[in-house]
Amino acid sequence: MQRVEKFLKEAGTYYLATVEGDQPRVRPFGTVNIFDGKLYIQTGKVKEVSKQIHANPKVEICAFKDGAWLRVAGELAEDDRREAKQSMLDAYPSLQGMYSADDGNTEVFYFKSAKATFSSFMGAPETVEF
Ligand SMILES: Cc1cc2nc3c(=O)[nH]c(=O)nc-3n(C[C@H](O)[C@H](O)[C@H](O)COP(=O)(O)O)c2cc1C
Repeated sequence: MQRVEKFLKEAGTYYLATVEGDQPRVRPFGTVNIFDGKLYIQTGKVKEVSKQIHANPKVEICAFKDGAWLRVAGELAEDDRREAKQSMLDAYPSLQGMYSADDGNTEVFYFKSAKATFSSFMGAPETVEF
């Protein structure tokens, strides 16, 4: 999990895919944080992405860095605890102008099950599950 967090942070931007009915949806994301032994991402409840995750928590992330790419496929769960949101905001001070733990909008999800695959053109893919 630490290796996944490090890759995503170093990549800076990853792409989060959700499903809306039978239509895939994808957008750039950047937030990633390990809290309480789990890998979290952050969004806002007002966003379509949030509504899609609540309707269908199966998502996939893809990021690319230095000739290698990472895909994380799994299922998200919301964590409504204030401390989980605050930990994320502490990791991203730049978000604190837009979000706060008590604003009723900030939302964090953790991967309740995930299969992460590190790939490159150089060798065989490596998979970790958490
Ligand atoms: C580099 C980059 C990183 C972003 N990171 C996040 C993020 O971590 N969380 C988030 O909610 N939105 C983030 N956004 C904004 C979303 O991509 C944007 O709000 C998008 O429209 C949300 O998807 P939706 O329109 O399907 O709801 C980021 C945008 C960019 C360009």
